[in-house]
Amino acid sequence: MPDIAETPSRSARSQADTVIHVENVSKFFQTPSQENLGALLNIDLEIRHGEFVTIVGPSGCGKSTLLKLIAGFSPVSGGRILFQGDEVRGLNTRVGYVPQESKLFPWLTVEENVGFGLSPKKYSRADRERQVSYFIKLAGLSGFEKYYPAQLSGGMGKRASIIRALAYEPAVILMDEPFGPLDAQTRMVLQDELLKIWEQKRQTIVFVTHDLVEAVALADRVVVMTHRPGKIKDVININMARPRNIFEIHRQDGFDDAYGRLWNIFRHELNIGRPSEQDS
Ligand SMILES: Nc1ncnc2c1ncn2[C@@H]1O[C@H](COP(=O)(O)OP(=O)(O)OP(=O)(O)O)[C@@H](O)[C@H]1O
Ligand SMILES: [Mg+2]
Repeated sequence: MPDIAETPSRSARSQADTVIHVENVSKFFQTPSQENLGALLNIDLEIRHGEFVTIVGPSGCGKSTLLKLIAGFSPVSGGRILFQGDEVRGLNTRVGYVPQESKLFPWLTVEENVGFGLSPKKYSRADRERQVSYFIKLAGLSGFEKYYPAQLSGGMGKRASIIRALAYEPAVILMDEPFGPLDAQTRMVLQDELLKIWEQKRQTIVFVTHDLVEAVALADRVVVMTHRPGKIKDVININMARPRNIFEIHRQDGFDDAYGRLWNIFRHELNIGRPSEQDS
């Protein structure tokens, strides 16, 4: 698979395959202490239909900001974002979005939250119930269908917010550290399930994570961002076979090599601002 940074003469086929095109995008925020705080600078990124792309970078480098711009929550300061060929100018309702902070609707139960996006036009009542109960079981929330978010643990709320985005099966899902606060076992189970769902449905997934193992284990490509203002430092192709065994990912051919390449790039970013600790 070719890299994100392509020549201007890329083929028409590649253009048609592109679902998200971030073109020279910058984002500045007005803050009390600093006018025009630069969060993102000149980001160029193309994501193709059916790709699983992970994004890693130091805390505060603009990863969440980038997802929010793609989702249309706030406008870009420079450049533009094309989504399936159309410029994103307001809320992009064609994407599913799992925010970094899980935000369930507090006045709806778990099952009502999960079924929220399943429109009666597309789903019969029976299909809706089947879909909701499938995902609730998947996330280990059986028995908690009638609970309200305030009655759940943090991890349970997180799981419910993940399956709410998956349940209505959008073609593109943006996930912002969805498994971050979960315990290691639940995390692996959900990573495994996410890959299984993705292998069946081949949605396009853009997935932000702090966890480099997770970034490699899930992705076709890993985007590495620099310290703020975030730029794209590198993009690594992950040439590991699929389907992948999340539970034994360290043993899979190609894992060590991919992880080594990623770490080599990433560790230099961690050292920025701490010159005394810089190594070779
Ligand atoms: N609404 C906002 N107003 C002002 N500044 C903001 C706003 N949102 C983000 N920022 C700033 O933009 C920068 C990037 O923030 P962002 O949340 O995108 O980082 P991140 O890479 O997702 O970090 P983390 O890994 O900690 O989640 C930060 O310096 C943050 O303070
Ligand atoms: Mg973030």
